[in-house]
Order: sequence, then structure tokens, then C-alpha cells
Amino acid sequence: MKVCVAGLGQIGYPVAQYVKAKGLETYGYDISAAAVARVAEIGVKATANWNEIPKADIYIVSVTTGQLNDCPDLSAVFDVSKKIAQTSNLTALVSIESTIVPGTSQKIFKEIFKSKINLVHVPHRYWGDEPEKHGVNQLRVIGGVNSASLKVGVKLYTDILGIPLHTCPTVEVAEMCKITENSHRYLQIAFAEDLKMLCSQIGMNFDDLRAAMNTKWNVDLPEARDGIGRHCLPKDIRYVTSLAPSVLLDAAMKVDTQYRDWLAKQKHQ
Ligand SMILES: NC(=O)c1ccc[n+]([C@@H]2O[C@H](COP(=O)([O-])OP(=O)(O)OC[C@H]3O[C@@H](n4cnc5c(N)ncnc54)[C@H](O)[C@@H]3O)[C@@H](O)[C@H]2O)c1
Repeated sequence: MKVCVAGLGQIGYPVAQYVKAKGLETYGYDISAAAVARVAEIGVKATANWNEIPKADIYIVSVTTGQLNDCPDLSAVFDVSKKIAQTSNLTALVSIESTIVPGTSQKIFKEIFKSKINLVHVPHRYWGDEPEKHGVNQLRVIGGVNSASLKVGVKLYTDILGIPLHTCPTVEVAEMCKITENSHRYLQIAFAEDLKMLCSQIGMNFDDLRAAMNTKWNVDLPEARDGIGRHCLPKDIRYVTSLAPSVLLDAAMKVDTQYRDWLAKQKHQ
């Protein structure tokens, strides 16, 4: 079975490594020569030239998704999908693992693949600080553009890759799940940041308060550190608010901005 991993960055690299370790013939594609060189070091046949990728049975899409003019920028996912559509067999499975917004998988399936391929969405919950526990092989969600795709996708992830899955009733639920679970985390951190600023106003130690609160069975307040960083949480909450307005999520983003300013002032005092 031939697998092509398209996008070999923080996610694509461990995915290619994992797939190869499962004994599958693994190819890698990326527009970055550095990313190609990194996976070549672990024995993945990688290239920056799409024409050198043989017809694969499975395509895993793990390219960049970002923001452009405050809107989700999914152009790399569309770009790679078009390349796959030009060369793949209709029996192939395409798994989009990049973070996307609801509607993207069906749009790609209909407009690029003309409804003639198997397509699933299996987003990541990857945490680079603990790749063993929270890496490629952790419980993930899956959604398919139709029942046939879902069947092929579930077989690949569970039987061949040994990755546990929660099956979503629709692909849109899987797409939404990724960005709302990260928004949920964002809200929790923003609440901790808000409380820390509030504590400072009333002269209370936030860490003492947090330790006390977290003794309750259904409370798990995170630390308030340097602001909500890395790229996924700030990007994914904006993916959600790009769908429809949310007073709560907008407030959380304002809190994070306010907290960063507050922290900067504390450092200069
Ligand atoms: N890094 C994480 O911890 C994490 C966790 C969960 C989800 N995700 C999601 O996974 C996806 C990939 O994230 P990442 O952290 O690996 O990003 P990254 O920037 O580390 O890697 C993305 C790779 O895609 C390549 N690329 C960009 N455009 C391309 C194109 N048109 N064709 C081929 N390759 C292209 C880039 O050169 C890069 O090597 C994103 O959607 C991200 O939101 C990331």
C-alpha cells in the first residue's frame, strides 16, 4: 500500500514517520526543500516535485492552514487537492488532516474530485511537548463525505494505523469539533488570565486561588502564562468566529490582548 503525505511540517513529519513505521510504502511531498530534506533523513521518499510522486492508495493532507485578511486561508489544502485530483485513481482515499472550517471537505469533494473519490477528515490533537502521549496515535475524530468514504477511512485508521477513532455523524461535525475544542481551551485560559488580573486588583495570589479551585471535581483551571501563544489556538478560535459572531469568543480574545498588555506593564514596573 502506497501512502503519500503532503505537507511535511510539525504535523506531516511525525505522520510520515508513523505511517512508515507501520510498514507502509511512504512518500512525502512539500513545497519546502528543507521539509523534504528532514523527512528524507528518516527514510521517507520525499520530493518537492509533485510529478515524482507515484499514484498512491492513500493521500494524507497535512499542509499549512492560516489566516489571510482575517479569513481562514485554506489555499494550500485546495492546491494539494487539485494535484491529487490530477493524478490519483478514483479508488484512492484522501484524508484531510489539516485544520479546516465546516464545509471545506464537501467543497473539495464536489468541486475538485467531482464526487469521485473517498474523502475523510481526521484532524489532529497533536501536542509537540508530549508526542508520545498526545501525538499522531491518540483518540481522534473522523468524518466522511459519504458512508463509503467513512468505511474506507475507519478501516485505514483503526485496522492499519492502529489509531483510535470517534466517528462523527457528518464530516462537518469533525471539522467543527477541531476548531471548537481548541476554542474551548482558549476560553479556559482566557478565564485564568482574566482572574489573574482581577486577583492583582484585589490583592489576592492567583496561584493560591487556582490551587484551591482545582480541588473541586469539575474544575480544571489552567495556568495563566505569557498569553495564548503558538499558532493553533489563536487561529482556530478565529476560524469559529469567521462562521458566525460570538460575543463570548470575541470577549476571550479581548481578554488575552488585555492580559498581554498587563503583563508587559508588570515587567516594566
Ligand atoms: N503543529 C501542531 O501542533 C498542530 C496541531 C493540530 C493541528 N495542526 C494543523 O495541522 C496543519 C499543519 O500544521 P503544521 O504545524 O504541521 O504546519 P507547518 O507550517 O509546520 O507545516 C506545514 C507544511 O506544509 C507545507 N506547505 C504549505 N503549502 C503547501 C503546498 N501548497 N503544497 C505542499 N506543501 C505545502 C509547508 O512548506 C510546511 O512544511 C495545520 O492545519 C495546523 O493547524 C497543527
